[in-house]
Amino acid sequence: MATNKTFTMIKPDAVANGHMGAILDKITQGGFKISALKYTFLTAEKAGEFYAVHKERPFYGDLVKFMSSGPIVAAILEKDNAVEDFRKLIGATDPSKAEPGTIRNLFAKSIDANAVHGSDSDENAEIEGSFFFSAFEKF
Ligand code: RTP
Ligand code: MG
Repeated sequence: MATNKTFTMIKPDAVANGHMGAILDKITQGGFKISALKYTFLTAEKAGEFYAVHKERPFYGDLVKFMSSGPIVAAILEKDNAVEDFRKLIGATDPSKAEPGTIRNLFAKSIDANAVHGSDSDENAEIEGSFFFSAFEKF
């Protein structure tokens, strides 16, 4: 059964370009409750660990470098059907293919610098949320 939680990061490009507030607003307006929130930084080691599922992919090195290039915002979000609905709100991985009005369509420049992360399953949402937040930081 689907849980009602997903995990997101506002990636370094979107933070650097001043979109943090607008993206948090889109998330809230999209009906998601923010149940944990942190402005933080991924070292290359931590970014490598977070995206370890992509270790064998050709873009892994660039992805790790990019995700550790500046501060990020990490958050746990709550809503019915959270994982699927959030992937809809952010749009396709490649922003040139993202639906108008989606977060990546509005705020992302390229497939590498694509503004936000969204969990791809309930299982990964739980793992990713716990990567950043202790039980005391989840509300
Ligand atoms: P994310 O995990 O960041 O939410 O993105 P996603 O599910 O939409 O895409 P995923 O397949 O999980 O890939 C993770 C990130 O790696 C970069 N990527 N580059 N050059 C490429 O073909 C390529 N494919 C993926 C993207 O930045 C993507 O967000
Ligand atoms: Mg993914």
